[in-house]
Amino acid sequence: MKTHQPVMVEKVIEFLNVRATGVYIDATCGTGHHSRAILEATGGNCTMICIDKDFRAIQRAKEYLSEFSTRVIFVNDGFENIEKIVRNIGIKKADGILFDLGFSSEQISSSQAGFGFKQNGPLDMRYDKNLPVSAWDVINRFSKKEIARILEDFGEVKDAEKLATLICTERKNKPFETTREFADFIARHRKSRKKIHPATQIFQAIRMYVNNEIENLKAGLEGAVNVLISGARIVVITYHSIEDRIVKRFMKTNKNVRLITKKVIVPDEIEKAVNLSSRSAKMRVAEVVN
Ligand SMILES: C[S@@+](CC[C@H](N)C(=O)[O-])C[C@H]1O[C@@H](n2cnc3c(N)ncnc32)[C@H](O)[C@@H]1O
Repeated sequence: MKTHQPVMVEKVIEFLNVRATGVYIDATCGTGHHSRAILEATGGNCTMICIDKDFRAIQRAKEYLSEFSTRVIFVNDGFENIEKIVRNIGIKKADGILFDLGFSSEQISSSQAGFGFKQNGPLDMRYDKNLPVSAWDVINRFSKKEIARILEDFGEVKDAEKLATLICTERKNKPFETTREFADFIARHRKSRKKIHPATQIFQAIRMYVNNEIENLKAGLEGAVNVLISGARIVVITYHSIEDRIVKRFMKTNKNVRLITKKVIVPDEIEKAVNLSSRSAKMRVAEVVN
């Protein structure tokens, strides 16, 4: 399994205004690399609330952050439930929150999770295995119209209708079962103008639909405002334009926050060269003013 390399770590620490006595929420803790950096920046004195929807990520984070175990509260839940999570923990308000959206290298390189096609695996793509619909259902059971809409809305795929028709015709012979089988099928019918694999946008769209990512992001951002003290920072790292537009709009229009980053923050050239997954990363920061 590939180890995740956290993105823009120094900028996260700087923009969160990390203080030793603070309580910080890592809304997407993954294996816990950003959480570890925040803990280390405070000499292990701050309190971290580490949330992830993926049970296996929480297990990995517990191990990775074991030396800080008395300072960390782990929660296997979705950040869309942030208000309930903070209420249940019993703290009044936190001093900052980080959202590092999408999936980790561990998830994309795990064949079991079914997110990627470099490793062959079942068509799944659910962060939380209790979610009712998997990628398999979308691809093999959804109507042509539904598939086309998902590809358009969540992948901004231009040839969505044509692809949906091809998928529905092909699956009549035999359902698609694995990520590589599906990716190879897409590659046979679709050219990509850039260097990225022709199935990348398609996988992104299905993953976003299966995990309800857009609605969850909106709920997570709205909820964050209510669990933070005035002056606390909301730091969000996105990896594609649909998410970035939502974050930008929220930070510009929500009356309870003030946009801090007038210009979007991106990794420097060295980080982009060393960590290829960081190439599309964009960071935006807002401060709670209520
Ligand atoms: C890019 S990774 C985070 C990596 C992490 N910052 C690190 O340094 O290890 C994104 C994580 O968000 C999680 N995730 C996605 N949607 C979520 C949601 N709605 N609530 C909580 N976690 C979510 C994924 O399971 C994944 O582990």
